[in-house]
Amino acid sequence: MQPSYYEDFSEIKIKIWSLLNNAVKDRGSPFRIPVFACGNQNDIDGRIVVLRKSDQANNLIQFHSDIRSDKIEKLKKNNNAAMLFYDKDEKIQVRLKVECIINHVNDITKESWSKTQHISRKCYLVDNGPGTETDKPTSGLKPELDNFDYTKEQSEEGYKNFTVIQCKIKSIEWLYLAAKGHRRAKFDLENNKDTWLVP
Ligand SMILES: Cc1cc2nc3c(=O)[nH]c(=O)nc-3n(C[C@H](O)[C@H](O)[C@H](O)COP(=O)(O)O)c2cc1C
Repeated sequence: MQPSYYEDFSEIKIKIWSLLNNAVKDRGSPFRIPVFACGNQNDIDGRIVVLRKSDQANNLIQFHSDIRSDKIEKLKKNNNAAMLFYDKDEKIQVRLKVECIINHVNDITKESWSKTQHISRKCYLVDNGPGTETDKPTSGLKPELDNFDYTKEQSEEGYKNFTVIQCKIKSIEWLYLAAKGHRRAKFDLENNKDTWLVP
């Protein structure tokens, strides 16, 4: 039997948002770690990020980053980006075209930072930003930080590097793999247009 979302636009959208919403809570969900791809002219790359929020009412999802990371400079020049998700068990691929908003030291970062776990704050405590070249292999952290030996107060140092990237979804492309025939659909959220595509 085919699932309810096999050939039904609204059921597909329900399924997509349930996968996204669930991924924010479920550490084991494959949708929790999408590829985020962005670029400026001929310098384009993708990287895994952790999905931190999904907000269907505003067609928005978000992840965290370090303000010093290379992708920030790229996004400042070109805030159009893409996100890619695949759940092997569900046989569902979701591709998003998004427009990014970089949040740094504002109400949005303040709220997200207050919810970060102590161990996650470690990422933002590196002396030099992600991608900095070094003479020897390193985590970039002082040894005591590597051992999680820091107080909550010391972890606050990381806030100045903490960044929330909000991704406003412009369009969604869905691919569902099925033995009886794959199905592919596109949702243009800007023009409110749903379209079937040949898979
Ligand atoms: C499982 C996993 C989760 C990651 N989560 C994030 C994340 O939420 N935000 C982030 O900026 N980088 C994250 N990274 C690291 C990025 O993939 C990337 O290596 C890093 O951001 C530096 O690359 P960039 O500055 O070119 O983006 C994660 C990597 C892995 C393997």
